[in-house]
Amino acid sequence: MARRKKIYEGKAKTLYEGPEPGTIIQYFKDDATAFNAEKKAVIEGKGVLNNMLSEYFMVGLTNIGVPTHFIKRLNMREQLVRAVEIIPLEVIVRNYAAGTMAKRLGIDEGTQLPRPIVEYCLKDDKLGDPLVTEEHIAAFGWASQQDMDDILSLALRVNDFLAGVMYGVGIKLIDFKIEIGRVYDGDFQRLIVADEISPDSCRLWDIATGRKLDKDVFRRDLGSLTDAYTEVATRLGVMPKGSTPMARPKLIN
Ligand code: C5P
Repeated sequence: MARRKKIYEGKAKTLYEGPEPGTIIQYFKDDATAFNAEKKAVIEGKGVLNNMLSEYFMVGLTNIGVPTHFIKRLNMREQLVRAVEIIPLEVIVRNYAAGTMAKRLGIDEGTQLPRPIVEYCLKDDKLGDPLVTEEHIAAFGWASQQDMDDILSLALRVNDFLAGVMYGVGIKLIDFKIEIGRVYDGDFQRLIVADEISPDSCRLWDIATGRKLDKDVFRRDLGSLTDAYTEVATRLGVMPKGSTPMARPKLIN
């Protein structure tokens, strides 16, 4: 059997060359990292959950007309996606203060913001993904003004979609991060949602209890990350109730 070509190994995913030009296979690993990889663990089943959840969100976005890189899920851990040129920015949308914003501005976590706030961080692990302004982005040519208009519009559409879907299952969307990719269709180029959308890259709080159902469970040692992600997947109907993401065949005596 021919070995497939690995294109890139990231912290939570590995990318392989896809079966056709312009396609890529995303493999979701069980590796969890936080604080720029200072904290690491392997969490059995996380890759499966994120693969299924990212599929769910990307398909939903496509269905409401928000373009994404998603083509199809291949198996429990892999999905086929369009190859894109990644814009070197992490696009963060916040509805409630939390994490670095709460700390930076001295706002209590959970305070509702007057309106969704979009922030940009430069994708650079060595620098710890620093917060940048649109001035930096324009001056250093990381994205054009037209790109920034499109990115803002995509980010706010994703926010409305995700916030609504989550609200429907009793979960508050505190904030999230997306990545944007450029694709070329003939003479035209456009921007689409890429990478993944999963509890690794969102903050999700149960509306009734305030319980955290996202990667903060790992970052802050709040219990089982698999249980938290399974709860999100079960509420969305992505995983049947009572199933475990890494269920193995049982031996019958
Ligand atoms: O850490 P911070 O509060 O800036 O994170 C805001 C949101 O972006 C959180 O939902 C977090 O999970 C996500 N994020 C991410 N990847 C990063 C930084 C933040 O998914 N490198």
